Amino acid sequence: MANLDSGSLHPDIIDFSVQSLLDDLDVAFGPLAMGKALRWDVTPCIARVRSNPVLLERMLSNLVDNAIRFTSVGGVVVSSRLSGPSLLLQVWDTGMGIAPQYHERVFDAFFREAPDGNRGAGLGLPIVRSGARMLGIDVTLRSVPGRGSCFSMRVPLAQGAAVRREAVAASFSSVA
Ligand SMILES: Nc1ncnc2c1ncn2[C@@H]1O[C@H](COP(=O)(O)OP(=O)(O)OP(=O)(O)O)[C@@H](O)[C@H]1O
Ligand SMILES: [Mg+2]
Repeated sequence: MANLDSGSLHPDIIDFSVQSLLDDLDVAFGPLAMGKALRWDVTPCIARVRSNPVLLERMLSNLVDNAIRFTSVGGVVVSSRLSGPSLLLQVWDTGMGIAPQYHERVFDAFFREAPDGNRGAGLGLPIVRSGARMLGIDVTLRSVPGRGSCFSMRVPLAQGAAVRREAVAASFSSVA
C-alpha cells in the first residue's frame, strides 16, 4: 500500500473487457456467498473499460469480500451499467450497514467497526481508495445501518466506446 500511495507505481492502463474480470469474481466468491446461503448475483457486462485490470480486480475483490463478510441475511449483487463516459460498477449488500459518521473513516487503514468475530486487518478499503486515486476512479458509498451498503466505482470506458457513446448521444440530440 505504501507503494500504491507513494506514486512510485505506474500501472499499465489498457482497454479490456469487464466480463472476464466479473467471471473471475464469480468463481472466487460465488462459493463463499452460497456457503452463507446468501443470494449471489453478478450481472453480465459487455462494456470495455480503460484501466488496469489487475488493480481493478483487486479493488472489486476487496469490496465483494466485505459485502459477503458483513452480510448474514439476504444477498450480494455486483452490477454494472453505462453512465456517461464511465462504467458504473456497484457492489450491493443487504448486510449490517455502516453508520453515517464512519462513511469516510472506513477507507482509513486499520479502521474496523465490525463485531470481533468479523474482523479482518482493516486494509481492504484503504487499498480500494489508493487504487482508485491511482487509476482516477471515483468511489462512493451509500449505506444504511441494518439495511445494507452499496459501494460504487466509476471506471472510464475504453476510448473507442466512450467516443461512440458521445456520437450516439449527439445524433439523438440533433434529432430531438
Ligand atoms: N459492506 C460492508 N458492510 C458493513 N461494514 C463494512 C462493509 N465494508 C467495510 N465495512 C466496515 O469497514 C471496515 C474496514 O473495511 P476493510 O475492508 O478496510 O477492513 P476489513 O474487512 O475489516 O479487513 P481486511 O479487508 O483487511 O480483511 C470493516 O471492518 C467494517 O467495519
Ligand atoms: Mg475487507
